[in-house]
Amino acid sequence: MKTAVELRRQVEFVLRLAEWVLGRPVRTVLDVGCGEGNWRAPLRRLRPSVIYDGVDPSAYAIARYGRARGLMLGSIDDLDALPLRAGYDLVVCCGMLNYLPAATLRRGLAQVAQRTEGVAYLELFTSADAFEGDTTWPAPKPAAWYRRVMRAAGLQSIGMHGYVPLAHPLRVSSLEQG
Ligand SMILES: C[S@@+](CC[C@H](N)C(=O)[O-])C[C@H]1O[C@@H](n2cnc3c(N)ncnc32)[C@H](O)[C@@H]1O
Repeated sequence: MKTAVELRRQVEFVLRLAEWVLGRPVRTVLDVGCGEGNWRAPLRRLRPSVIYDGVDPSAYAIARYGRARGLMLGSIDDLDALPLRAGYDLVVCCGMLNYLPAATLRRGLAQVAQRTEGVAYLELFTSADAFEGDTTWPAPKPAAWYRRVMRAAGLQSIGMHGYVPLAHPLRVSSLEQG
């Protein structure tokens, strides 16, 4: 479980990474598997006018926080069916991709890539990583497997769980690409 300080640090890092790549402030964020929308408040503290859309399949989270925090019911592989923007400056999948079966991960990442106009932050752990906390996931696969899935979805790694769409390489130089 992340502390409030760790969450603020992570949100600030991801926001600055996206802004460095975009060369301007982030204006739109899509948070997929957003849970209760915990990223919204720290993002808004840094960028008060940011547009934040969250998607999560938890009926409880959406009923409880959906209206106040801009969250809608859905799954990562349902994005095409939801009333979302065509593209976002920043797409976040934090602490959720490891829960997905392989087919859902593949379909979902392709939809994430289509909506990423700046940076996607895609936190994932592999069979080579040590975990703390909840490990009730499908067994993680080797890093090479995830790299192939990311490339097939149209995503280029820029390190630290950051990706840019292969279709729009933006301001990323050769050695910044993983
Ligand atoms: C550990 S929580 C992380 C919540 C949030 N991203 C955060 O960092 O606070 C994992 C979330 O993934 C969501 N989730 C599970 N399957 C999903 C799917 N197919 N599509 C989108 N979200 C999913 C769960 O409902 C849960 O809210």
